[in-house]
Amino acid sequence: MSETLVSGDENQGQPSSCRSTAGADWDAAAMYRQVLAAASRIQPYIYRTPVLTSRVLNELTGAALFFKCENLQKTGSFKARGAHNAVFLLDDDAARRGVVTHSSGNHAAALALAAANRGITAQIVMPRNAPQTKIDSTRRLGGQVTLCEPTSAAREAAANTLLQTTGGTLVHPFDNWDIIAGQGTAALELLDELPDVDVIVSPVGGGGLLSGTSLVAHAHSQATGRACHVYGAEPQGADDAYRSFTTSIRQPMHEPRTIADGLRTALGERTFPVIRELATGIGTVSDDEILRATRLLWEVLKIVVEPSGAVPFAAVLEGRVPITGRRVGIIISGGNIDLDKLPWS
Ligand SMILES: Cc1ncc(COP(=O)(O)O)c(C=O)c1O
Repeated sequence: MSETLVSGDENQGQPSSCRSTAGADWDAAAMYRQVLAAASRIQPYIYRTPVLTSRVLNELTGAALFFKCENLQKTGSFKARGAHNAVFLLDDDAARRGVVTHSSGNHAAALALAAANRGITAQIVMPRNAPQTKIDSTRRLGGQVTLCEPTSAAREAAANTLLQTTGGTLVHPFDNWDIIAGQGTAALELLDELPDVDVIVSPVGGGGLLSGTSLVAHAHSQATGRACHVYGAEPQGADDAYRSFTTSIRQPMHEPRTIADGLRTALGERTFPVIRELATGIGTVSDDEILRATRLLWEVLKIVVEPSGAVPFAAVLEGRVPITGRRVGIIISGGNIDLDKLPWS
């Protein structure tokens, strides 16, 4: 096992259903109910995505792998789940003023679609260096895009200006309980279909998907009495979640450098405590390993996966999460990639 795996003790008792942390109070049982409510709220607008398997990849890794294909989700990523949950939870007054966000890509397109489905406006701040395909698809879905310099300060300043001028609601890409609940619905579907999965591996950027997945697996483990462990997978060049998990203190991101553009963000004040309490570990992978995994998924599964979406499979392939002999759910989180700039051409 590589040094880059940080793991809690898989045998230790699961935490109780109630946790309180500075800056963000949360209750695992109440959050799980929010995930269940989100599943019925968003059901008319999203796909129940397929779960693919491959004998070749099972033999290569020595595990039974189940790929939850969120790259085939509406807008090409799991982000459609959280965005629809947040937008359809707004009361009519707030909805009329529209929604605002900042995002480098997939949340932007997802929020644009959710707003269009609710018949409201979405103002979206995107960094100038976001992949062109993600900017184009956000605009195509009706999002009103404002480009800004690629720094957190510039993103926040531009979003604040839009919030003041429109009176709209900020829908943060990950550090928002409605988003976290929506993202948890992918794991809910996976465990509904495959209740005896031992491990789920999810990518981690800001941690919305990983915290939602951890909440669902925790509730499932408690209900079935059979442990389902959740691991995060992260690029080495943007390893704040790994450092935060290791030290139990939320760590800042230092100039992320990775091909996985969806994973360049740092954990939030809501997502971090959930991950610290309920996830079992974080595995990190290099960009070369991410590329190898991305390419293998295209070749073997015949599906379009973006580098961020292949990070969990890279962690499995490289032995950064303990999977030998186990039944492993892998969340392929997205498939939005610029076809003119394929990373291996
Ligand atoms: C394809 C893809 N995977 C994973 C993530 C990470 O999600 P989160 O910020 O909820 O950790 C993102 C975020 O943009 C993404 O676009």
